[in-house]
Amino acid sequence: MRRCILFLATWICAVGSHPCVHRDFGNNGTVCVCNATYCDSTPVPEVPDVGFYIRYTSSKDGLRFSKTDGVFSKEVPTHSDSFRLDPSITFQPIHGFGGGFSDSACINIKNLSSGAQENLMRTYFSKEGSNYNFGRIPIGATDFSTRAYTLDDHDGDVLLEKFSLAQEDILYKIPVMKRALEINPDLKLFAAAWTAPPWMRTNHNYTGYGFLLEEYYQVYANYLLKFMDKYKDHGLEMWALSTGNEPWIGTINISHYGAMGFTPKHMGKWVANNLGPTISKSKHNRTLILTYDDVRSHLDSFINIMFENELARSYIAAIAIHTYEDTLYPTVLVEKIHQDYPDKFIFMTEISTGDPQPDTGLVPLGSWDFADVYIMEMFQNFENWVAGWVDWNLAVNMYGGPNYLGNYKDAAIIVNAEVDEFYKQPLYYALTHFSKFTPPGSIRVGLAHGNTSVKAMAFETPKEEMILLIYNNCTTDQNVAINDPRRGNIHLHLPPKSIHTILYK
Ligand SMILES: *[C@@H]1O[C@H](CO)[C@@H](O)[C@H](O)[C@H]1NC(C)=O
Ligand SMILES: *[C@@H]1O[C@H](CO)[C@@H](O)[C@H](O)[C@H]1NC(C)=O
Ligand SMILES: *[C@@H]1O[C@H](CO)[C@@H](O)[C@H](O)[C@H]1NC(C)=O
Ligand SMILES: *[C@@H]1O[C@H](CO)[C@@H](O)[C@H](O)[C@H]1NC(C)=O
Ligand SMILES: *[C@@H]1O[C@H](CO)[C@@H](O)[C@H](O)[C@H]1NC(C)=O
Ligand SMILES: *[C@@H]1O[C@H](CO)[C@@H](O)[C@H](O)[C@H]1NC(C)=O
Ligand SMILES: *[C@@H]1O[C@H](CO)[C@@H](O)[C@H](O)[C@H]1NC(C)=O
Ligand SMILES: *[C@@H]1O[C@H](CO)[C@@H](O)[C@H](O)[C@H]1NC(C)=O
Repeated sequence: MRRCILFLATWICAVGSHPCVHRDFGNNGTVCVCNATYCDSTPVPEVPDVGFYIRYTSSKDGLRFSKTDGVFSKEVPTHSDSFRLDPSITFQPIHGFGGGFSDSACINIKNLSSGAQENLMRTYFSKEGSNYNFGRIPIGATDFSTRAYTLDDHDGDVLLEKFSLAQEDILYKIPVMKRALEINPDLKLFAAAWTAPPWMRTNHNYTGYGFLLEEYYQVYANYLLKFMDKYKDHGLEMWALSTGNEPWIGTINISHYGAMGFTPKHMGKWVANNLGPTISKSKHNRTLILTYDDVRSHLDSFINIMFENELARSYIAAIAIHTYEDTLYPTVLVEKIHQDYPDKFIFMTEISTGDPQPDTGLVPLGSWDFADVYIMEMFQNFENWVAGWVDWNLAVNMYGGPNYLGNYKDAAIIVNAEVDEFYKQPLYYALTHFSKFTPPGSIRVGLAHGNTSVKAMAFETPKEEMILLIYNNCTTDQNVAINDPRRGNIHLHLPPKSIHTILYK
């Protein structure tokens, strides 16, 4: 079945539901296979009249956005396994969902034929796909690059006269981003550097234990500004700029990581005296500044010390977190940051999971286990004030790369360029259950949990429609009921390891 065709230089895409084409790679689950002429998709739903609901289900057993209709019931649940909605209790507004335009992701996407590229971009950025509205852009290389570089590798070039975008920007990232922006004109881009040029660092290296030299504080702010200028020249404006990827990890002496260290005190000083004023005096004065951009472990102490600098605090719009090592540190750390700094929204800017198989080096295809990790993370973080969710690499190759530091990882989409296919992992559907139906401006609302191991969460959209997310993590069927005092009861039979999105007015 042909999904998209190129006609007079315009992509024409068929609307209507296109089911998943399953393939089993022997990992206790399946992927959905897409190629140049076919990709599964789900049309934008018509939310039914009051009293009715629709439900989408994906499961370990192979359901993928399977749609069913339902009717609210007057029957009051007899069992205690019920949830009770209270829309008068409101939590954080949701800013949106997205993924990372790493060098590797864009190289992999560009390694497909144009038809397959188009299907991949649409599966993330169109309304029939994940409806992503955020993109994270590395400034220079990350470990998910084929080499180490920055945008000015010329020692001592303090005037940045030799600053230039890399071939990775020109050939891969910018064209891919421009296509994403065409598919979703509301796409918001934000950028983060993994490091300053080595000559600005204490250890004169791209990686390892090293800090920004104080004599280059202003030069580095100018460097980041210059990046924004160059991208703007290509029609790509930054909604936000991060103070840098994983500054805390860079303060630990592990040379493996491609990060640059910043103590919170120095970060405060640099933002207050250099980065903040540089941005606010420039033509990018509307660009927000995000900070931290690191794992939960030192969130509290880092932000508290950094924000002792009141000026630095005033420049910061949001606190970005990553979810690695979440199981080691309590979620209450995230909630506490919200309580202490309620004017700063919390934005999850990087998650990835799953290592390649040790024997083959290949990413395991089709396993539900990684979807399970993502679902757990999303419930946990959204229940604690996180307002946006941005996955790491949009796509990796069959080996979980390229990655010049050998830090290979799974992703929601795996590109197999050799046969011009890409595979949508179960975790793609896990993410999309959240992203597709929760438009920016939706607000999380109260949902009291009954005595059940089933997870559930509720949002109200700007059009005052309700969204329920439900996950049965058990390996057995579960029966639950959800009570909305205004509408009645939804009685649900949930297959093992199944995620559901319910929509109603
Ligand atoms: C598949 O599931 C079985 C039973 O749970 C388990 O023993 C086996 O290791 C799994 N295989 C893979 C490749 O995950
Ligand atoms: C693309 O996928 C569709 C659906 O599975 C299939 O019918 C078609 O043969 C595939 N095209 C190629 C070139 O493999
Ligand atoms: C930079 O660090 C890497 C990794 O530790 C090391 O292999 C390399 O030699 C270092 N380069 C310089 C110029 O010190
Ligand atoms: C970092 O560790 C290396 C060896 O692992 C050591 O040689 C070096 O002195 C350490 N650097 C600092 C600043 O602690
Ligand atoms: C932001 O910059 C624009 C020009 O690029 C200027 O017109 C506007 O006044 C500036 N806004 C602030 C708040 O400085
Ligand atoms: C599901 O249960 C497993 C095993 O108890 C746990 O490791 C995992 O985090 C749970 N997932 C979710 C989404 O709660
Ligand atoms: C691009 O695809 C070719 C096969 O068509 C493959 O050999 C190569 O490794 C791919 N490049 C990357 C970066 O994965
Ligand atoms: C919760 O459910 C468990 C198992 O179904 C049961 O043993 C327990 O008594 C229930 N607790 C309450 C407060 O209903």
